[in-house]
Amino acid sequence: MSGRFVTFEGIDGAGKSTHVDWYVERLKARGIDAIRSREPGGTPLAERLRELLLTQPMSMDTELMLMFAARRDHLERLIRPALAAGKWVVCDRFTDSTWAYQGGGRRGPAERIAWLEAWVHGDLQPDRTYLFDLPAGMAAQRRAAARDADRFEREDEAFFERVREAYRGRAGQAPERFRLIDGRLPIEDIRKILEEDIASIGN
Ligand code: ADP
Ligand code: TYD
Repeated sequence: MSGRFVTFEGIDGAGKSTHVDWYVERLKARGIDAIRSREPGGTPLAERLRELLLTQPMSMDTELMLMFAARRDHLERLIRPALAAGKWVVCDRFTDSTWAYQGGGRRGPAERIAWLEAWVHGDLQPDRTYLFDLPAGMAAQRRAAARDADRFEREDEAFFERVREAYRGRAGQAPERFRLIDGRLPIEDIRKILEEDIASIGN
């Protein structure tokens, strides 16, 4: 028995969180046993690392390793057991975020990210990844209207454009896994796209 692993990705303010809870409810309405989680976070230890990551100044290397430390705990205690029990895990961010933020945004070395990825989760990859794509300026406007900025969200527009480009590069490398979603669309239109896609992951 094996579940499905679904991730939501995109720059801050792209609209991921707006859809994750709704998506899990749609899965449950179809009789699917689904849980929602997020990164960094998802377990008590990883949530504590998240608090540090979002608030404390730190070097790029420390940030990269803490992201993967949080991920390892999340995988061991939540993601792998849930998948083994046949559940669907719907996660707000996963390793594509590391490639986009620590790799693209901070220009971190790809070979270290690849090495950590292989160590921390081997060949486990999401079955489906929704990439919410929109211009960095538009995402910044939405964030400004919605909430106070955390450590990442205080980065400038050029940083978020690099993150966006890194995400688009990832999506181009794995077109069967990714679904690119135009984040400028109305929420109802995005829900239709997501709803229609659910059936294709179940098969
Ligand atoms: P993320 O989780 O990607 O950071 P959020 O889901 O928190 O983004 O959305 C950021 C803000 O943009 C929220 O105020 C949300 O209501 C709004 N928003 C999300 N999706 C849309 C959309 N498709 N159209 C207009 N506003 C949106
Ligand atoms: P997120 O949960 O999307 O924050 P919010 O609820 O404010 O939208 O993610 C927190 C931040 O962590 C986000 O700015 C992206 C960053 N992040 C990385 O830089 N690398 C990673 O590997 C992950 C998972 C997140």
